[in-house]
Amino acid sequence: MTESNFFRLNDGTTIPVIGFGTYTVQGAKGIRVLQSAIDAGFRLIDSSTNYMNEGTVGEAIRRSDVPRKDIAIRSKLPGANHDYDKAITVIQESLYRSGLDYFDQYLIHWPLPKQGKYVEAWQALVDAQKFGLVKTIGVSNFLPEHLDKIIEATGVTPAVNQIERHPYFNNLELVKENQKRGIQVESWSTFGRKLNDVLENETIVELAKKYHKTPAQIILRWNYQSDVLSIVKASSYDHQKANLEFFDFELSKDDIDKINGLDQGEAGRVEGQDPNEYEEFD
Ligand SMILES: NC(=O)c1ccc[n+]([C@@H]2O[C@H](COP(=O)([O-])OP(=O)(O)OC[C@H]3O[C@@H](n4cnc5c(N)ncnc54)[C@H](OP(=O)(O)O)[C@@H]3O)[C@@H](O)[C@H]2O)c1
Repeated sequence: MTESNFFRLNDGTTIPVIGFGTYTVQGAKGIRVLQSAIDAGFRLIDSSTNYMNEGTVGEAIRRSDVPRKDIAIRSKLPGANHDYDKAITVIQESLYRSGLDYFDQYLIHWPLPKQGKYVEAWQALVDAQKFGLVKTIGVSNFLPEHLDKIIEATGVTPAVNQIERHPYFNNLELVKENQKRGIQVESWSTFGRKLNDVLENETIVELAKKYHKTPAQIILRWNYQSDVLSIVKASSYDHQKANLEFFDFELSKDDIDKINGLDQGEAGRVEGQDPNEYEEFD
């Protein structure tokens, strides 16, 4: 990977501009999918306690020829563990489960503002970093008001915020709010998780023809040129390999605007998960 394959984070570390998503990637089949993704060239693996696959991720890393230090592994804090002591314990449990000494990154999965404990959870991540359990800390699905509260309470700005973003829900305002605060934005369900038809969208398909690329590569390039890190899942080696090939062309400003124009607002969310409402207590 060259320098342009990495973003620099506000804590001084770097991160690949694309990461491999692991939602539903589990067990022996999951290990094969992950081995294939690492062989294809992925060096950032996005896991979560809620995906119930931290063991699978750890095992795939151990079976890989790529040294542990060259693969960034991340997990996320589940909603039922926002209490300070529970959060520290669950991070330790996740490390034991994955057989790893540290996570490269660790995020709060959802803010759960109705539960109102995300500031306490953030303090736990700040301390987990000091204890050496995790290197980089960040959040997921945080809105500007959640970001401001944790920054004000702890003086520590998250390095990343992983949010829903794809052409039907481009979340542009939230992208800008993060960038204003020096937070690296990441997109989840970048291809709409096959719950929508974004990879077959007429505009995206036309652009793919124009640039001699695939629809998936057009979306990945749109994110990259918007300084957004893409988290993507793919089960086949061919898709995995192709998803790493978006560095050799450039979308024009007009074409970026065309993709931004596909936004459907709230109706475009893949599963209607509004971070102020969505509750995951597992
Ligand atoms: N923080 C959060 O709250 C949150 C929420 C949701 C997801 N995430 C993360 O984001 C990751 C990605 O999102 P996602 O799993 O929802 O799905 P996604 O990446 O949007 O879409 C995956 C689908 O796209 C297909 N695909 C991948 N590459 C392709 C290509 N080059 N051409 C055609 N089809 C292609 C895959 O098919 P094949 O398998 O056949 O290749 C799969 O069906 C998750 O796995 C998870 O790590 C985070």
